[in-house]
Amino acid sequence: MFGQEVGHGVDFATRNEQNSFCIDALKTSKLRSYVDPMLQEVEVLPAMNRTSALLDSYIYTLNLMSSNLQCDNVFMFPLDYFEKWGQEGIIDLKHELDQVLMLISGRCLLGKEIREKMLDEFYTLFHEIENSLSLINFFLPYIPIPANRRRDAARIKLKEILSETVRSRKRYNQVEEDALQNLIDSKYKDGRSISEDEVTGLMIGLIFAGEHTNSLSSAWTGSYLLNDAKCLMTAIEEQKKIIKKFGRRIDYHVLLEMYTLDRCIKEALRLHPTAPMLLRKVHKHFTVWTKEGHEYEIPAGHTIVSPTVLNHYIPYIYKDPEVYDPERFGPGREEDKVGGKFSYTSFSGGRHACPGEAYGYMQMKVIWSYLLRNYELKLLSPFPKEEWRKFALKPQGKVMVSYKIRQLA
Ligand code: HEM
Repeated sequence: MFGQEVGHGVDFATRNEQNSFCIDALKTSKLRSYVDPMLQEVEVLPAMNRTSALLDSYIYTLNLMSSNLQCDNVFMFPLDYFEKWGQEGIIDLKHELDQVLMLISGRCLLGKEIREKMLDEFYTLFHEIENSLSLINFFLPYIPIPANRRRDAARIKLKEILSETVRSRKRYNQVEEDALQNLIDSKYKDGRSISEDEVTGLMIGLIFAGEHTNSLSSAWTGSYLLNDAKCLMTAIEEQKKIIKKFGRRIDYHVLLEMYTLDRCIKEALRLHPTAPMLLRKVHKHFTVWTKEGHEYEIPAGHTIVSPTVLNHYIPYIYKDPEVYDPERFGPGREEDKVGGKFSYTSFSGGRHACPGEAYGYMQMKVIWSYLLRNYELKLLSPFPKEEWRKFALKPQGKVMVSYKIRQLA
């Protein structure tokens, strides 16, 4: 799906090294530099900050032009997605979250060039790849059906867009603080630099792994918060306390202090994991003992399934498992920890655990803290049902929400 140069197209050792390039691009030290760009996408900046952000953008563009005489990428930063909402109105929460998440990924992962000049084109092509996902493709990925032809054509075009950005950065010695740059700078253990095709394949893979998952998780979190007055109030009170302690400015450390919001997201993901089951190939024979004392031999060569969607509802681990109760993860309860290492697997576990977990939490907290601080929100639609589609559990239909601007003090 992402090309023969990455993932299952290459040998095991190369694949492992490529995984570590992705992990590196999303590790904590890099994440700090993504907070400001994330905030710039959502925040309606005060007049002073807006002027300085615009000034920064002018200076950046001028520097680029003067240092290179010629420049392929001249861009300005359109600011603050939510500004266009105005004072009050009604929106489809799912659609709005998708839009803002795309802008954030555009800036933090793909880079300014694509974010400013061709984000719509990028995502239209990207959705062709996503739309090719189906059960038949799971077993016969190269079967020549129209969806696969569209997928392959889209991948070629996406690669062209990304390659052009990579080449332009190299041509003008332009260095950015985004995941794309981290991949461009990656080197294999034998000293070989990563190729352009590998960078583009890995980047499409990262967007694929992050887009759907974050969009579903943010929509479920919002639906639960707006459906539960007590949880909503607790989350708002936390924002008030944080504003009192740190002022309105948000940075990496302020985001880490949002424990309640963190638990609200985690609980939404317990009830609706984005990967309903995890699959693993057994390399070495092992034995499992169940709580009831049954013993099972698991032979090498078999494939095992860990059904997250069932495991998260086990009543001796999660009290009243059907209930949305973020405090089950709070001090004194910590049901996921009490239940053992793999009781909570919304981000998987072991060697293939999700490297985007911290990034995902960060962007969901940026968005939801902004919405809680600045809008009075009400859920107008009934609480969404689950829709099984493309292997993930989506909230079904539109999630209509009314909003009215306000400011927490
Ligand atoms: C709420 C958001 C997210 C959730 C719930 C989530 C969940 C998961 C899960 C369950 C897996 C493992 C699948 C398996 O074990 O078979 C996974 C893998 C992965 N995720 Fe995420 N993810 C999220 C966000 C992201 C983001 C934002 C990125 C990147 C920008 C990302 C990148 C990856 C990658 C590269 C893998 C493959 C890891 C490997 O195979 O070694 N994820 N994710």
